[in-house]
Amino acid sequence: MDNVRIGIIGVGGMGSAHANSMKDVPRATLTAICDIDEAVCAAKAEAFGVPGFTKHTELLDSDLVDAVIVATPHYFHPPIAIDAWSRGMHVLSEKPISVTVKAADEMIAAWRKSGLKFSVMYQMRTEAIYIEAKRIIDSGALGEIYRTCMVMGWYRSQAYYDSGGWRATWTGEGGGVLINQAPHLLDIFTWLAGLPAAIHGEVRTNLHDIEVEDEAFAVLTYPNGAHGYLYTSTTEAPEAHLIEISGDKGKLRIQDGKIRLWTVDTPVRQHNRESEEMWSSPRGTEVAVDLRETDSGHRAITANFVRAILDGEPLIAPGEEGLNAMEMINGMILSGKTGEKVSVPVDRDRYEALLAELRASSQGKSRLREQRVTDPQHQ
Ligand SMILES: NC(=O)c1ccc[n+]([C@@H]2O[C@H](COP(=O)([O-])OP(=O)(O)OC[C@H]3O[C@@H](n4cnc5c(N)ncnc54)[C@H](O)[C@@H]3O)[C@@H](O)[C@H]2O)c1
Repeated sequence: MDNVRIGIIGVGGMGSAHANSMKDVPRATLTAICDIDEAVCAAKAEAFGVPGFTKHTELLDSDLVDAVIVATPHYFHPPIAIDAWSRGMHVLSEKPISVTVKAADEMIAAWRKSGLKFSVMYQMRTEAIYIEAKRIIDSGALGEIYRTCMVMGWYRSQAYYDSGGWRATWTGEGGGVLINQAPHLLDIFTWLAGLPAAIHGEVRTNLHDIEVEDEAFAVLTYPNGAHGYLYTSTTEAPEAHLIEISGDKGKLRIQDGKIRLWTVDTPVRQHNRESEEMWSSPRGTEVAVDLRETDSGHRAITANFVRAILDGEPLIAPGEEGLNAMEMINGMILSGKTGEKVSVPVDRDRYEALLAELRASSQGKSRLREQRVTDPQHQ
């Protein structure tokens, strides 16, 4: 095979953006689309000049595709991916890979059996600052990690929440800011600092007329006893992005698109043990961080997925690593709803039981003004 025939399942805002950018992905061709909504399916099939299907199984059985991008609401990612692998097709899933850790486990188990490719659209992994941050941490430059911090304050309007019946409902989406906006930075945060062993969180609905959380915060405890602090919301403008990781030998801060690194002349633990001066402390120096130009964004993840299929290139965002963000999302909701500090890995059955209760209590949408508009940042 020297070209990958790609089908896109779910051609709303994000799926349409993927379809539009397919012409710029080398050795890939958009050959079919699927959307459960008949009118959307017909309009997009005409717009992209490819056959359209209203059932994903019809697309998978059409013999038209080698791989699929799944860009439906999150609950459908695991079952559609599992159907694709069972028919021999590679899968690039939109984020998050699922709504629950249990569904993610099932998805990963099915992928392992298939021997096919599984990638997830965590396109922030292609940005130079995060690639460099990962290289710095993996090099051991920070030493043992003592503290982490993640702040992701975003803004979403009520009109955004009213734009789709599935959005911000327990039955349609399975969470709020944690499952929709935060997964990107949660993926980077856990990619860099690893998973905590425990999460003590709170979730609340602060600003919007929605039934799920638009604000969440937590204290994290890591396996080595280190602590972390996490805050995320869709109630903040201008937006804020911060990841800070502080260790025995230095500190890394990524804030609003910039990366800064400091190292100390003596590791903190060693200084504490050896120094006899009352007011001394390890001296920190800022170190310049060189950023390499990268091919970034959604298209870069799709292009890497295609090269992984054709050339065996390692995936930038392997699908199974999508489980990390799920542990954080489910852990924070479970802790916030029960008031308990919860362990990671999250108790699968307990989270399923909680979500079943939340789904049963769902009121659905009191106001719906449907729009399928691609986020201008993603066009
Ligand atoms: N990676 C990113 O930067 C990014 C950005 C936005 C959205 N997303 C993800 O993309 C997914 C879709 O979000 P969106 O904003 O495009 O939503 P959307 O509502 O605009 O589009 C979803 C589309 O899927 C269709 N659909 C629903 N169920 C289906 C099914 N079972 N089979 C086929 N089609 C189905 C709907 O009719 C709709 O057209 C979500 O999981 C979201 O988290 C990712």
